[in-house]
Amino acid sequence: MEFKANDRKKGCDTPKMKEMIRLVGITKEFDHTTIIPPLDLTINDGEFVTLLGPSGCGKTTILRMIAGLEHPTTGHIYLDDEDVTSLAPYKRNVNMVFQHYALFPHMTVEENIRFGLMMKKVPREEQDNRINQVLYLTQLEDLRYRKPQQMSGGQQQRVAIARAVVNNPKVLLLDEPLGALDYKLRKKMQLELKNLQRGLGITFIYVTHDQEEALTMSDRVIIVNGGRIEQDDPPARIYQYPKSQFAANFIGENNFFAIEGDDQHLLAVRPQYIEVSDEKEEPEDSSRAPFYYGSVVEILFTGTIDKVYIRLDNTNQMVTAYQYYDDKKRWKADDRVAIRWKTEDAVKVTK
Ligand SMILES: Nc1ncnc2c1ncn2[C@@H]1O[C@H](COP(=O)(O)OP(=O)(O)OP(=O)(O)O)[C@@H](O)[C@H]1O
Ligand SMILES: [Mg+2]
Repeated sequence: MEFKANDRKKGCDTPKMKEMIRLVGITKEFDHTTIIPPLDLTINDGEFVTLLGPSGCGKTTILRMIAGLEHPTTGHIYLDDEDVTSLAPYKRNVNMVFQHYALFPHMTVEENIRFGLMMKKVPREEQDNRINQVLYLTQLEDLRYRKPQQMSGGQQQRVAIARAVVNNPKVLLLDEPLGALDYKLRKKMQLELKNLQRGLGITFIYVTHDQEEALTMSDRVIIVNGGRIEQDDPPARIYQYPKSQFAANFIGENNFFAIEGDDQHLLAVRPQYIEVSDEKEEPEDSSRAPFYYGSVVEILFTGTIDKVYIRLDNTNQMVTAYQYYDDKKRWKADDRVAIRWKTEDAVKVTK
């Protein structure tokens, strides 16, 4: 991305990002049911933005409207300052990659990638140049003459991605592109995709169910809930300062505690911040919340940490805490415990 001197706002050091996509008052109804209530969203050139949310919240519908595969009921979509709301999909400079990478089975990798360029009547020499470049970027050079059934799922997905970037779209929409791959391959492809996006400088709008994937890959994570934007922030901020109980619950694990005299908010405390001690062992401390008391119900081994489930007296609320391999004290079921947390580690969220 290039920043020019006149891109800078007066008195402000951060360069002004160029806007790539703008959704203005977008709504979508299917059979008179509102799936997307009025939605406004701006995405900048070169950004990697992830839509994260539960099944059925409207992620695919939002992507399909940007691609032009679905028409919004109301509102406008701008792509690079052009109103594309009623433009056909193939006239938008946008490509989409799906979870199930429909490659042409009878064509080789190279032919699959070339297909779109031929449709667009790109001159042969330029086709070859661009194909060579994307084969290199997606590490498919050695597989150029293979057919889809001769390749692994991860390799096929790389071809689907190569095919989608070869005609230099301004925006690439990716709908759970790694969803069909196993855990290890997914981790590897996440890195590859992120590097590819950096190298190409294309705006990526990425959809996933997987919060870890969203946090590691994105510049911005948008949590969608019932077609609405619940929170739109960089990954670290989303993790550290969730705004609502929904966001706090959706990203990582959280415990929630009522706030006396405030029925609009809750305190969210992550398991790693829950301090567990023997009942009444420690004195109260002004930098910490008052103790809650309870009993250990169960310990779950997860590999790197043990999860300690504690049932609080009176409320019966379950609290999750972590126990680390080298902790002095190892908890076991039925142990009586006191829990608390540092005041600074609790985040106030809306219910
Ligand atoms: N063509 C359609 N006709 C009627 N309803 C639809 C249509 N497409 C989607 N929906 C509904 O719109 C809602 C949002 O669907 P969408 O596919 O956008 O969800 P999603 O967030 O992508 O979910 P998932 O994570 O399961 O892929 C769902 O309730 C779905 O049933
Ligand atoms: Mg979907």
